Amino acid sequence: MSTAKRLVSLVCLVLVFALVAGCAQKPAEPAKPAEQAKPAEPAKPAEPAEIKIGVVAPITGDVATFGVNTHRGVELAVKQLNDKGGVLGKKVVLKVEDDKNQPTETAAAVQKLITQDKVTAIIGSVASKCTLAGAPIAQSNKVPMISPTSTNEKVTQVGEYIFRACFIDPFQGAVMAKFAYENLKVKTAACLFDVTNDYTKGLAESFKANFEKLGGKVVEYQTYNVGDQDFKPQLTKIKAQNPDVLFLSDYYNTVGLIAKQVREMGLKCILLGGDGWDSAELGKIGGTAIEGGYFSNHYSKDAKNPEAVAFLDAFKKAYNEDPDALAALAYDATMILCDAIKRAGKLDGGAIKDAMSSTKDFKAVSGSITIDPATRNPIKSAVVLKVDKGGKFAFEALVNP
Ligand code: PHE
Repeated sequence: MSTAKRLVSLVCLVLVFALVAGCAQKPAEPAKPAEQAKPAEPAKPAEPAEIKIGVVAPITGDVATFGVNTHRGVELAVKQLNDKGGVLGKKVVLKVEDDKNQPTETAAAVQKLITQDKVTAIIGSVASKCTLAGAPIAQSNKVPMISPTSTNEKVTQVGEYIFRACFIDPFQGAVMAKFAYENLKVKTAACLFDVTNDYTKGLAESFKANFEKLGGKVVEYQTYNVGDQDFKPQLTKIKAQNPDVLFLSDYYNTVGLIAKQVREMGLKCILLGGDGWDSAELGKIGGTAIEGGYFSNHYSKDAKNPEAVAFLDAFKKAYNEDPDALAALAYDATMILCDAIKRAGKLDGGAIKDAMSSTKDFKAVSGSITIDPATRNPIKSAVVLKVDKGGKFAFEALVNP
């Protein structure tokens, strides 16, 4: 290089340096002078400033308390996370969809959340029949989805992106069969359920199989269709067999209705059911007819683990009401998901689902949660609650897997 050229290079360098230094000293931009001075890099897709999470729940419709409390549980968790600086330093933002407890609505909501809102993950839905309709869409788009409360076994079988925060119906049915046979010491049972609903059908099947395995007898196994209001024909057959217990695996609205007809017809049997009973509305619909019944559930507000105590307190402060299992599990599902996002370290569906699969001993409101990576189901205990006077729920038993 000639001396003249060297000189030109030097002058250029000095000029560039002066420019850079000049920029750096601009008083208007004190924030990141060094970064701005860097030579231009190939444009990277901008990292979103927030984390969008979709929520699908029946906020209106026939089981609206399920959706309202699910939404509250998610909202409370997100508020607490954001108050502490968010997740991966980003604010969590919710996109909430009401599926009205109708599977076609769930499918449309999941589709919208993915294509329009471009959410990172989805929490929902509540009813198994709804989650089963939405999950294949999340799975094929590789968007992680966690249902707080869908207990039907088939839900997580949809694929490796689908998770849940609750136990499954084969366990729940076994819990109630054991409770009936061993705690209540009854020998005969009848089942009555909605044959069009994956949850009510699967849970009745599990109760029957387990009750019979223990040595009990299922003397009637009756069905109805969604929306039915008159159960007298089935109850007439059941009454003729005079079972010790009647297992009703539907949601609170239908269970309340059936309970009334059971007592109107003079049946004396003890009523049993599953998590679908969990609503403050059960006692209002069923009145005294439902009192003395027992159901399996995910959460009791009497739980004493520190997470449950703190949650109960925060929920009451926020909503002026006691939380139910829907709220507790929605809170847990949100925390499990966000913990996985933190461990994944990025907003990538594949990385998040891998992190979710390796959730271990996570201290949740509904107990310690370890997700079985093969099935994406948590391994956890159940509680049995009794419906007391005025429709209040009282803790009756804790059943471990
Ligand atoms: N387990 C029910 C289902 O799968 C939903 C539910 C969960 C309802 C918890 C009430 C409480 O359909």
